[in-house]
Amino acid sequence: MKFLKRTDREIYELIRQEEKRQRQTLMMIPSENTASKAVEEAVGSSLGNKYAEGYPFKRYYQGQEHVDRVEDLARDRAKRMYGVAHVNVQPYSGSPANLSIYLALLSPGDTVMGLSLAFGGHLTHGAPVSITGKFFRSVSYELNEKGLIDYSELRKMVQENKPKLIIAGITAYPRFLDWKKFSSIAKEADAYLMADIAHLSGLVIAGVYPNPTPYVDIITTTTHKTLRGPRGAMVMVTDKGMKKDPDLAAKIDKAVFPGLQGGPHINTIAGIAVALKEASFSSFRKYAARVVENAKVLAEELSRSGFNLISGGTDCHLILLDLRNKGILGNTAAEALERAGIIVNKNSVPFDTNPPFYPSGLRLGTPGITSRGMGKREMKRIAAWINDVVGDLVLLKKRLGISDIEERKLSVRNKLIGSSVRIKEINREIKKLCRHFPIKEQYLY
Ligand SMILES: Cc1ncc(COP(=O)(O)O)c(C=O)c1O
Repeated sequence: MKFLKRTDREIYELIRQEEKRQRQTLMMIPSENTASKAVEEAVGSSLGNKYAEGYPFKRYYQGQEHVDRVEDLARDRAKRMYGVAHVNVQPYSGSPANLSIYLALLSPGDTVMGLSLAFGGHLTHGAPVSITGKFFRSVSYELNEKGLIDYSELRKMVQENKPKLIIAGITAYPRFLDWKKFSSIAKEADAYLMADIAHLSGLVIAGVYPNPTPYVDIITTTTHKTLRGPRGAMVMVTDKGMKKDPDLAAKIDKAVFPGLQGGPHINTIAGIAVALKEASFSSFRKYAARVVENAKVLAEELSRSGFNLISGGTDCHLILLDLRNKGILGNTAAEALERAGIIVNKNSVPFDTNPPFYPSGLRLGTPGITSRGMGKREMKRIAAWINDVVGDLVLLKKRLGISDIEERKLSVRNKLIGSSVRIKEINREIKKLCRHFPIKEQYLY
């Protein structure tokens, strides 16, 4: 970064500090990961200087001979790895990728059904605050008391509401999605079925999470989560989708450009191509298997320590804890864990009795720490640290006489967290662990 250092010292310093933060803490937000330097180099390359509105070999500007090949390579690799008929690699991120499907298939007011945000779906699956909930008739499905999708209830809802589009996808649901069941439910209603595998993409191509390709019409995914690529997204059309609607690929391409976006970020697309190449190495399959194995160990250990896990465990890379039996808010736990060096996020839990800004849950995941090479032993230590931090918070909250309502105040939480000696000790222990597992610059075969 020698040029950046000379040109803009402030940004240079902030990047350095962020690098240090990432080095010294455990990245356990399940949607985050550390891309390789190869991906970073592609994203930071001069490809970002090029305007390339249109698609390969059909552009609106001159000078495309190299970028056409970049985009073509990215599409071909994705087609091969996901086993799909068509890929669009241009969406700027996951939200515009999803929006392109609404634009391609629905008219304002048409009905869409996705998993409710409060139950583990994404904003773009029809949440009331999102354009997808404002401009379309969104009917959200929820989880049952066990924290699982109730497919017979879903079938009933679909039959009643006759959606044009059904979205099967998650941000905070730790179990396998039953693509086959989704498919039969969508078929009965003649609805399009879209799988949003943003979180699951890397696990799917590694074969450790069921592949939706044979069952759904459309797949959307971000590229920066378990896939470990740059911030970006892809939209894919399966053979099944093309059979249902031979114009589907053309409709989606038109929705992405010119419907929603202008010039594609060719630098990001190059980064996606690199990430897909890295994900084709056998080491990536081992990585993905380890992500799941680590999440399962962490889940078992936490469960053994008396934590309530939504759905009782995990099939993938993420865990959702319900802290109501501990009597502390997700905010307090997340902020305290951050002080300790464990970076997670507060999250609503199914049937949460607390409001979304003060939710009862914590969402954590293993993609980032597994990229650093951590395994079962480290998961056991991390579970013990989480237990220690939460245990100390519970004790101190009682000792300081803090009520549930008072806990909603940041200053009160800061006082509570600041009074824990154990959190400071854990922070030192975590820094030491992090030194033993440096963030990798390369992910090779
Ligand atoms: C399932 C799912 N879909 C879509 C998105 C949106 O991606 P982005 O944040 O890149 O817009 C996310 C992001 O968390 C997600 O988890």
